[in-house]
Amino acid sequence: MNESLYKKRRETLLEKMQEGVAVLTNARLQTRSNDTEYPYRPNSDFYYLTGFKEDNSILVLIKTADETKCLLFVQKKVPEMELWTGKRLGVDAAKERFKVDEVFISEDFEKEMKVLMAEQHLLYYDLFSDDVLYKQLRALAKEMLHTRTVIVSPRSFSDITKLTQEMRLIKSREEIVQIKKALAITQKAHHHAMKVCKPELDEFVLQAEYEYIFKKEGAYSDAYTTIIAGGNNANTLHYINNDAKLKAGDLVLVDAGCEYGFYASDITRTYPVSGTFTQAQKELYEMVLDVQLKIIKAIKPKGSKKALQALSERLLTEGMVKLGILEGHVKTLMDEKSHKKYYPHGIGHWMGIDVHDPCPYSDDNGDEILFAEGMVLTIEPGIYLPEEDEALPEKYRGIGIRIEDDILVTKEGCENLSGSIVKSVAEIEAICKNK
Ligand code: GLY
Ligand code: MN
Ligand code: MN
Repeated sequence: MNESLYKKRRETLLEKMQEGVAVLTNARLQTRSNDTEYPYRPNSDFYYLTGFKEDNSILVLIKTADETKCLLFVQKKVPEMELWTGKRLGVDAAKERFKVDEVFISEDFEKEMKVLMAEQHLLYYDLFSDDVLYKQLRALAKEMLHTRTVIVSPRSFSDITKLTQEMRLIKSREEIVQIKKALAITQKAHHHAMKVCKPELDEFVLQAEYEYIFKKEGAYSDAYTTIIAGGNNANTLHYINNDAKLKAGDLVLVDAGCEYGFYASDITRTYPVSGTFTQAQKELYEMVLDVQLKIIKAIKPKGSKKALQALSERLLTEGMVKLGILEGHVKTLMDEKSHKKYYPHGIGHWMGIDVHDPCPYSDDNGDEILFAEGMVLTIEPGIYLPEEDEALPEKYRGIGIRIEDDILVTKEGCENLSGSIVKSVAEIEAICKNK
């Protein structure tokens, strides 16, 4: 994405701010164990506002009655460090690249903030972050409060992420392009895996097949840890052990999506390990698929996630009654929440730079935010029937099915961004057999 886009986002954020100074820091390197680190992943808000992916960088936005300013702090270039951890952009190149007013080295942050905060009542930062930088900022504000020569210093603190998360709710054309790129790779991975999946394969080997395609196609990483859940393992919602063998006759539930350019994709497909659905699996699968298609069809501007949730619960309950999984009247079963036993999760969530994009679901009055053009959400109904549940018809025990797609709300309705990842029984069986 080009620099003007990030500049425009910073300007929008400044418009939403009251007079004050805002500080956002990029993520830090995280220790994996002893002295080894996880691969670096920038902070989503920071990346959204800068497109910069170096740690030890800080963004400062200033808004006064007369002007706005944008400052960036970057790690200075140290050749001895670059030998070990690679080249840094440095101040000079950063000045050229970023459309900000000034660039400093990160070491000067405290010194500069003393000057900047001495004229401000209000300090914005990520109030929910444990980052040490924000702790330092509060200490600095306290020190200034107790310094007689400082007349004005921040005594009010506000959460900057409230504003950034509101902004991230509506995706721009450029962001949709990124999500589509992520999905094109994720599609390749699911289709490839359906072809290579076979009985006795270890779940983690199937996981590796996904991750191989992700990397090969240029995705930075997975957007979340892949779930490869054969048979009854699908009834553990966040099953990430992926250490069992896939069995002939079972289904495998795979929740896998790559992150491309720091944009997520989030796709679940459930397919037969041996390539053909059994009759019982097909009955359940087609019921869930029918529900998923109906829900996607209902998405349009001014619609709501709560309405989709209610619809998914009603349709799945009806489906479960038809198949003999639940007995009784749909309304009574729903009032008693009986369906929750087998469909315990939500219908979906916002998706973007984060797989669970932390954008708001309700406004400041507590009213639900209605769908609008440019929002992206997942639709992921599922049904989970544990093998040990003797209340279930025997033929359905040990089956878990979820079908998940990523949906863009459009002007008139919606677009299924992952609509070309196969999901009908016939399509899945055809691709699974195409070894
Ligand atoms: N893959 C995480 C989710 O579906 O929400
Ligand atoms: Mn999801
Ligand atoms: Mn998912």
